[in-house]
Amino acid sequence: MKVGVVGLGAMGSGIAQLCVEAGIDTVGREVTLELAEGARGRIDHFLTRKVEKGQIESFDIGLLSLTTDLSDLADCDVVIEAIVEELAPKQELFAKLERVCRADTVLATNTSALSVTEIASATSSPERVVGMHFFNPAPLMPLVEIVRAELSSDAAFDIAYALGERLGKHPIRCHDTPGFVVNRVLIPLLNDCVRVLDEARVSVEDLDAGMKHGAGWPMGPCELLDLVGIDVHVHASEALYDKLREPRMAAPPRLAAMANAGLLGRKSGRGFYTY
Ligand code: 3HC
Repeated sequence: MKVGVVGLGAMGSGIAQLCVEAGIDTVGREVTLELAEGARGRIDHFLTRKVEKGQIESFDIGLLSLTTDLSDLADCDVVIEAIVEELAPKQELFAKLERVCRADTVLATNTSALSVTEIASATSSPERVVGMHFFNPAPLMPLVEIVRAELSSDAAFDIAYALGERLGKHPIRCHDTPGFVVNRVLIPLLNDCVRVLDEARVSVEDLDAGMKHGAGWPMGPCELLDLVGIDVHVHASEALYDKLREPRMAAPPRLAAMANAGLLGRKSGRGFYTY
């Protein structure tokens, strides 16, 4: 089996890491080789730590080849897209993938809030397009949502589901609706958490402690927003609000202001917390 991953940012490199760990021939595509090599370095680091901790016996980083050229994905069985979360670039990419890949290559998107059906509509073979939505950090979060778009074939859906299992994930099946399953619930919930910060005049630390110790969350909502990226969350909220028109989906002004000010969370060094 051979898997292509397009975009080796936080999500794409995590997905490529899972593929290497599962012993799968993997091609990672980035816009520059420097970015791709940076991702390979992170993957090597995390897998080496897993060996040191005795969680895995060994891994072969040689399974991961890097490219800037989409045509190197031609003979992949599945290509997983994890590029910028915008419809137009994703549609353009899927139209190109359709041209360069084998006719039976399954084309999967890791989109979190866009419509898989709309992405598939840019191709003339929408039956092979599905969603494979991983959670951040992809190597640590057990879930993957396998998303059936309006025209996805059973064969493509089953291949994506089987790949999710092979990557050691717990796949769940769902249809292509805004936010799928988890983000449909989690995004408005996180927005509510931020509204509570002002309404209840609770500190960031106390809100996080509240949800950890009172609701059993593994990390507090502000820590989680910093991990996901404030900009990523605001963008996903806007996408869901556009589709569903539910006020709770809209990002609270406080989060939009943070995104505009560059307080993006861990990746920018400052969000609710300083890193
Ligand atoms: N690959 C492999 N290992 C990694 C890693 C990665 N990418 N990132 C971190 N690790 C390692 C850490 O370095 C650490 O190893 P070490 O012992 O060598 O230092 C090890 O994994 C464990 O890390 P932590 O101690 O931080 O692990 P925790 O036990 O605290 O769990 C967590 C971390 C799994 C992130 C947990 O806090 C959690 O479940 N948080 C909630 C996350 C969540 O809800 N994510 C979903 C976000 S929503 C989303 O993704 C949707 C999207 O569409 C927006």
